[in-house]
Amino acid sequence: MKTAILSYLKNTNGYISGEQLSKELGVSRTAIWKVINSLREEGYTIESVTRKGYHLVSNADRITAEEISLYNHAVWAGREVEYFEVTDSTNQRIHDFARNGRGNGLLAVCEEQTGGRGRRGRTWISPPGTGIWMSLLLRPKMEPQKASMVTIITALALTKAIDEMTTLSPQIKWPNDVIVNGKKVSGILTEMNADMDEIHYIVVGIGINANTKDFAPEISDMATSLYVESGQKIERAKLIAEFCQQFERLYEAFLLSGDLWKVKKEYESYLVNIGREVKIIKNREEKIRKAIGINELGELIVEDGSGKKEIVLSGEVSVRGLYGYV
Ligand code: BTN
Repeated sequence: MKTAILSYLKNTNGYISGEQLSKELGVSRTAIWKVINSLREEGYTIESVTRKGYHLVSNADRITAEEISLYNHAVWAGREVEYFEVTDSTNQRIHDFARNGRGNGLLAVCEEQTGGRGRRGRTWISPPGTGIWMSLLLRPKMEPQKASMVTIITALALTKAIDEMTTLSPQIKWPNDVIVNGKKVSGILTEMNADMDEIHYIVVGIGINANTKDFAPEISDMATSLYVESGQKIERAKLIAEFCQQFERLYEAFLLSGDLWKVKKEYESYLVNIGREVKIIKNREEKIRKAIGINELGELIVEDGSGKKEIVLSGEVSVRGLYGYV
């Protein structure tokens, strides 16, 4: 009911009366009034004027379940949302939900993480109210070896969503960082619970620096935000919804074919590394190769000066540009 009331308020120019709301939704005016108050507590400014009704003056800048579901037209991805004001890590929340039997497509989002996790055991700085810190629960029937492809799909969905919703030209740094103007705006941490031959569930964790204004000095030459790069405030709930829709479509195509064949070209069109020299760091050994694309398993294809091709597996190596992060 909260989502419906929010939707009426957002789609009404002037005032909407309590009476009309109660008729449309088939509940008492007291029930409407209670929801209005709880929306106010969440930070929405709602004016109420006798004989006229309610008027939404300003939105709460929140990514609650109601806000996201107003915009999300996906069938299953993110249709169920668990919202937290503060939590340690949304990945951790999804692990707990998964163990309690929650279903495919459940999304956990929060305003702030106190123990945000990054790849390679790093921490992920997740300040309140400005970023998007979210995790998606997936229960695919497939071999555990294929899980890294889900990360590739996620990076593509995220990049397409950012492309769609902003004026920016996002790119992908293989395998799964989203880059704008040479700096990272988003990272993905995929975790899996599986046996040798069966996935129990996958947690896809996504961090997006959306409206962040300042970065700590130690990360500011590598990290940026959509706001810093575009000068425009991002409507986080809309971006989350767009991501869910993009992800659902790409992921279903992937499940059908079982590989990345169908999305390979599109992924490559965003790949920042393509045609560039990359430094491949493996077991402290470094070598320079030119990146030429990905294969249908999502592995990076590189070649040496003589045109000899090699394949780089994600998770195995760290790929850097020659002069820095990209
Ligand atoms: C990276 O190192 O690039 C991956 C960062 C992933 C961060 C996200 S934020 C939401 C989710 N919860 C976490 O603890 N980590 C991921």
